[in-house]
Amino acid sequence: MRRKFVAGNWKMNKTIPEARQLITELLLTLKSLDGIDRAVCPPSTSLPMAAKLLQGTGVGLGAQNMYWEDSGAFTGELAPAMVAELCEYIIVGHSERRQYFGETDGTVNLKVKAALAHGLTPIVCIGESLEENQAGKTAEVVSRQVRGGLADLTPEQGAKLVIAYEPIWAIGTGLAATAEDANAIHRDVVRPALAELFGEQVAQGIQIQYGGSVKPDNALGFFTQSDIDGALVGGASLKADSFTAIAKAAAES
Ligand code: PGA
Repeated sequence: MRRKFVAGNWKMNKTIPEARQLITELLLTLKSLDGIDRAVCPPSTSLPMAAKLLQGTGVGLGAQNMYWEDSGAFTGELAPAMVAELCEYIIVGHSERRQYFGETDGTVNLKVKAALAHGLTPIVCIGESLEENQAGKTAEVVSRQVRGGLADLTPEQGAKLVIAYEPIWAIGTGLAATAEDANAIHRDVVRPALAELFGEQVAQGIQIQYGGSVKPDNALGFFTQSDIDGALVGGASLKADSFTAIAKAAAES
């Protein structure tokens, strides 16, 4: 039985006081929802504060990006060990990183390996563009991203991954995939690709989140599908009431 996992990707939002306020509000509800995995991923500046606030609450902390090298002359980057001092999760290969910052399946692979080597759980993002979707290329694109991003990992490493399927056309648009369509990608494309890499048993244990305009009113529809194991939430994670409503839906499902 896979646990549901709801994570908030705050992207480039919230100053430290704003982040403290939101986490304080979230904890009122999230703390007690211990039947599910739940985490927040604020900007790097708020991570030390968040790590302190979240300690012992059961609510996890993730960073949104890091570099793969251990240290050195990489101005502006965070090393895996620095992220691991504060966080248990790291979002890798979000479509915005791929689109605006040149990330590829190759750099995703380097980051996933670095994350695992430092005891971080990577939340590996995959998903097709609108053009790819309309050209009927979703399965091809998504399985290529899985194979490329997760190349050369052992089944033991594979078992430590979280995948987030986020169709790019659904991110921030209010135009979510239907729960049935998303589930079909999870069940018929992503999990079989994971099984090819790591074997069926490991693939069955990996949490596959859906992301892209998940809101309180559509969340339960996703969470009651066979192969949707939670959500990576952007816009709706920036307000306590909407993110807790989504987390509650996951706990109920
Ligand atoms: P959204 O973003 O929920 O605002 O669509 C999801 C994401 O980018 O992770």
